[in-house]
Amino acid sequence: DHQIVSMPMPSSGGTLLAQMLKMVSYEDLSKYQMNSEEAVQIMVEAERRAYADRAEYMGDPDFIEDKTQMLISNDYLKSRWKSFDKNTATPSKDVGKIINPNQKESTETTHISILDKFGNAVSVTTTLNGLYGSKTVVSGAGFFLNNEMDDFSVKPGVPNMFGAVGGEANKIEPNKRMLSSMTPTIVLKNGKPYIVVGTPGGTTIPTSVYQSIVNVIDFKMTPSSAVNSAKFHHQWLPEVVFVEKNFPENTLKILEQKNYKFEKRGGIGRTEMIVIDENGNATAVADSRGDDSVAVE
Ligand code: DON
Repeated sequence: DHQIVSMPMPSSGGTLLAQMLKMVSYEDLSKYQMNSEEAVQIMVEAERRAYADRAEYMGDPDFIEDKTQMLISNDYLKSRWKSFDKNTATPSKDVGKIINPNQKESTETTHISILDKFGNAVSVTTTLNGLYGSKTVVSGAGFFLNNEMDDFSVKPGVPNMFGAVGGEANKIEPNKRMLSSMTPTIVLKNGKPYIVVGTPGGTTIPTSVYQSIVNVIDFKMTPSSAVNSAKFHHQWLPEVVFVEKNFPENTLKILEQKNYKFEKRGGIGRTEMIVIDENGNATAVADSRGDDSVAVE
């Protein structure tokens, strides 16, 4: 028998308040004491459902469809309340879509290896450097500016975001280009493209390309194993060899006795490789470390 007057979008406040008050009205709260287990459970479950809606539906109505009327309707809220179970907390994942907070935007380098039907090969790596580059979009053009200044040595001995150090050779100077690690590569055999390869990965790029080539040529591995098998990376400083988590433990143990230090880390590179045999047949591999793919026309 009360009317609630409160704040509309773009505050979620009024809508959440209406949702929560309506949902608890489906139980007889007045039977319980304030802060009793029953009252707290009912009120928490109303909060859970309302705040899940906040995450999914609410925002500035100048930009998104204003769903307030639907969200505060009894039809909607009663169906939302059906999953209330006084015996157990409702898992939050059951009342709203949880976006994985650990999902990280990758650092911004991309590689593509291409072979056309005439046997022409192209290997291209392009980079914004860090996450969203400098986080500045060029108005009207639709692309980000990079933060490539980090590829310079900003101060002797100070590591950049990939832990690379440098001195005079790569210091910042007018009109100078920063030192990249990009390694778009074509291996020729008898003058013809044999391996087209490259990867993102900052300072791990050269090591990934090098190991992938060695895996094919020296270890006679299939292109797929050459790309996807565990990789390792060392870059002088830090004085540590980084290895992927699935690296053979036995090798690590033996080398540790010879004073090597290892550190496990996430995927090294996302190598895109095409290997072309003597008959011109190509095998293309997209690294399974990423969401990369192979396309054949
Ligand atoms: O040119 C370079 O070496 C760096 N800008 C590459 C950065 C990179 O690969 C980040 N992505 N994974």
